[in-house]
Amino acid sequence: MSYLEIKNLQKKYTANGPLIVNNMNLSIEKGEFIVFLGPSGCGKTTTIRMISGLEEITGGDITIDGESIVNKLPRERGVSMIFQSYAVWPHMTVFDNIAYPLKLQKLPKDEIKQRVEKAAQATEIQGLLKRYPAQMSGGQRQRVAVSRAIVVEPKLFLMDEPLSNLDAKLRVTMRTELKRIHTQQGSTSIFVTHDQSEAMSMADRIVVMYKGKIEQIGTPMEVYQDSATRFVAEFIGTPPTNFFDASIVKEGKELYAKGEGFCYKVPASLHQSLADYVGKEVDMGIRPEYIDIAPQKKEGEGYLCDAEIDFIEPQGSHSILITGIGTNQNVKIHTVEYMDMKPGTKVSCYVKNEMVMFFDRETTKRIK
Ligand SMILES: Nc1ncnc2c1ncn2[C@@H]1O[C@H](COP(=O)(O)OP(=O)(O)OP(=O)(O)O)[C@@H](O)[C@H]1O
Ligand SMILES: [Mg+2]
Repeated sequence: MSYLEIKNLQKKYTANGPLIVNNMNLSIEKGEFIVFLGPSGCGKTTTIRMISGLEEITGGDITIDGESIVNKLPRERGVSMIFQSYAVWPHMTVFDNIAYPLKLQKLPKDEIKQRVEKAAQATEIQGLLKRYPAQMSGGQRQRVAVSRAIVVEPKLFLMDEPLSNLDAKLRVTMRTELKRIHTQQGSTSIFVTHDQSEAMSMADRIVVMYKGKIEQIGTPMEVYQDSATRFVAEFIGTPPTNFFDASIVKEGKELYAKGEGFCYKVPASLHQSLADYVGKEVDMGIRPEYIDIAPQKKEGEGYLCDAEIDFIEPQGSHSILITGIGTNQNVKIHTVEYMDMKPGTKVSCYVKNEMVMFFDRETTKRIK
């Protein structure tokens, strides 16, 4: 049995309304850093509010250490939550802000002082305990909110987009801080974001959500390299995966994925799984870094098509080349080799290392 188990969890806000969380199942081990990732409205906040007890569940169960928590009050669950708008109380000093949940528990004064100092040390604001929030930067206020959440030494630490109010640079710094605190405290954490790069850089495992359902659960590398659905392939990665409308065609012993403007010989490793799709349409996905280009025409292994580069987006360490292939006029190619390529250059495009993904049109699931 895992530490936290979510079983067939469901949520409707109104009796006849839609299922906002639709039969969710998830097991989390002690000490894991889990990220809920998905677009706006997919049910991330609703789910963690149900775990914290701020929202009632419609169906299913949630257990911690084997014990159901759904009938417990929020404060009996051993869970601490940080919200998107990091509410720190302006009329209280930093010390009093952090001490507040411990005062509610009516702990002895000495113990409160000791624990506040320890929490402030973890977030490196021990020198600011006498200040008021108005005298601090956004990042420092965020640390106060983090300190107040960890001071209760929660079994489970829930964070709902805690970094979204910070500027880009501070977000990146605070990411690392939160991860460090998580490790130091030995907590189990669930962190919500719709920022895929935040998710990739922080998570032990990412739970990709879409329309109230889990699309995939996996390590950052798994969801990236081995996307389970078209949605995951599209949502994760910048720029996102390039998609092409393809028909699977059999010629002799070979299978080809053909579409307007391209023809790709399917690698033998995919013959078996694509056998049922001969004569059918599928979605073909190739990530920008898995399209190789060559300035002179040469067909061969992995050949996809010839194309003309329309735009270049230099990124410093690499460039993004933009070209049109058939019906997809916004194909992006990540290149380190041809960073200075001029618009109008004619190239041949290849799929690198057979890194191609095919998706079923109806189920949107990966064919593999
Ligand atoms: N109190 C409520 N009553 C009715 N519907 C609600 C309520 N709260 C949220 N919803 C709806 O439930 C769905 C999921 O909302 P939720 O806040 O969980 O999304 P989210 O994934 O956290 O999105 P975001 O990234 O924008 O924060 C949305 O369609 C939302 O409109
Ligand atoms: Mg939300």
